[in-house]
Amino acid sequence: MQYPNIRSMLAPRRLLAVTHGLALGFGAMAGIKSFAADGDPTPAQIAETAAALPDPAKMTPFSKQVPVIFVTRDPRKPEAWNNLKEFWNKGKVDSVDPATGEKVTRDAVFIKVPLGLNSAPPVPPENPLTEEKVMLGKKLYFDTVISSNNKVSCASCHNPALGYTDQMKTSTGIFDQKGGMNAPTVYNSGYHLLQFWNGRAPTLEDQAQGPPQNPVEMHDGKGNPWYQVVSRLRKNPEYVEAFAKVFGTPPTRDGAAKAIAAYERLALTGNSLVDRAELAMRTRVEEEGEGKPETNAGDFTKVLKAAFEAKDTEALGALGLQAGKDEGKIAEVAASIQRGKELFSNKARCNSCHVGDNYSDSQFHNLGVGAKDGAWPANADLGRFGAQETGHKDPTLVGAYKTPGLRQLVSTAPYMHDGSEGTLEAVIALYNKGGNLNPHLSNKMRDEPAEREAAKNGQKAVIPRKLNLTKQEEADLVLFLKALQGDPAPDIIAKP
Ligand code: HEC
Ligand code: HEC
Repeated sequence: MQYPNIRSMLAPRRLLAVTHGLALGFGAMAGIKSFAADGDPTPAQIAETAAALPDPAKMTPFSKQVPVIFVTRDPRKPEAWNNLKEFWNKGKVDSVDPATGEKVTRDAVFIKVPLGLNSAPPVPPENPLTEEKVMLGKKLYFDTVISSNNKVSCASCHNPALGYTDQMKTSTGIFDQKGGMNAPTVYNSGYHLLQFWNGRAPTLEDQAQGPPQNPVEMHDGKGNPWYQVVSRLRKNPEYVEAFAKVFGTPPTRDGAAKAIAAYERLALTGNSLVDRAELAMRTRVEEEGEGKPETNAGDFTKVLKAAFEAKDTEALGALGLQAGKDEGKIAEVAASIQRGKELFSNKARCNSCHVGDNYSDSQFHNLGVGAKDGAWPANADLGRFGAQETGHKDPTLVGAYKTPGLRQLVSTAPYMHDGSEGTLEAVIALYNKGGNLNPHLSNKMRDEPAEREAAKNGQKAVIPRKLNLTKQEEADLVLFLKALQGDPAPDIIAKP
């Protein structure tokens, strides 16, 4: 079964309509005839579990709320960031109590946003980050109570110990059912402009409402999914207390979605060897007072030496190197990563889609993943086109999927929306031949000069743009991708 298009059902501020549409949609999908059986919730009950107005008397008072504040490295004034010892730091912050207009000094958590992530993930104004909310979100994220059979949690498919994925070709959900899609990493998902491979959920808050009602992920297909989830949460005094403190309401679908999204915004990874080399380069260029702001093999040599000295097993392991053994390989490895980095932005043009701090343009492109014999199979998923609202369908986006970020690849194999590529070598080989031929291949993957030539001879053809990479160049690109492996999340985020 394909994943349902939940986007239209998840539009914010339409919660009542949403749950109705949903029940119908799922009834049809899961082969369930009717939800009107005895004991089913009424529309009013569903609405009451979906959202509630906060009772300020129940909430943690403003002066005791602990805001979570992202601190990114400001290249002109790096001190504030440098001074933070760890990812998660306790401190104080001055705020103005919106109810009284009085100035209060509050405890705060300062997040040291990993090197290379030059901006913080956007936070919607209606869902500000607080420590209690993030911890509630984390509890929900790891809790199987969200699934009908109490066996599946978000972490079952997005396990922090496995790069926030399940390392499976496609995921296995409730009652051991196989889905049709590869579980993307939750790392840095707060930066994506749309969620899911086809972008059908606009935000993490919308996305989090999907799995609990998905009959191949967390729901048994019986009754109203979110009404049941919320009813279970309301039976647990810990959740009743936590929701009251954070939202001033009993557990609701609105609150659960917000808390999970707040937690996910802190699943950050960066500080890869590439980020470190870029920082080393900037320092070098500043000291020399001249030269282009571009890395060279020397910058990679420097950060590799430092990684060996610090016994940074994460970064070195990603490259297949071992501290105390492979020091002799530094120069060779540094040169190869640097060549890979240049190929990425030049000959191989990877950066025409994998751009920005998370190496994703958050756009949708057809690479031909899923194409067969030059065609897009009639029964295949339509990708972004399939998810777009009626009245907004873009035929150039048939079979187009979201550009994933590239910061945890060593932990997140297999790759692509259907998990069809097992290794980074296989991914590069696919790009080297210009993707898989099909009528909807992205313009960026096509050899447009060759197509124009063909058109002159009256032939209308899609011609994939081959990269003509040598074996060495393919190996350099793979090593560069491995050098993008970021630091894993610290225990306060990664451990239940
Ligand atoms: C049974 C496995 C499974 C479970 C359980 C599950 N997910 Fe997923 N998740 C997936 C798959 C597969 C996708 C991709 C589906 C698609 O794009 O159509 C996905 C997509 C996502 C994305 C989008 C990431 C991106 O880059 O677009 C996020 C975020 C996410 N899941 C978070 C969660 C949260 C939060 C929960 C718990 C409420 C959860 N998932 C439960 C398998 C699962
Ligand atoms: C036209 C835009 C585009 C270009 C150019 C491009 N990519 Fe991608 N990349 C994507 C999209 C879109 C996907 C997901 C495709 C799918 O699953 O159908 C992807 C997937 C990947 C993946 C799999 C990641 C994962 O988590 O599954 C890797 C690795 C990757 N690209 C690396 C590269 C490299 C290296 C290059 C240059 C040789 C490159 N890409 C060029 C858009 C692009």
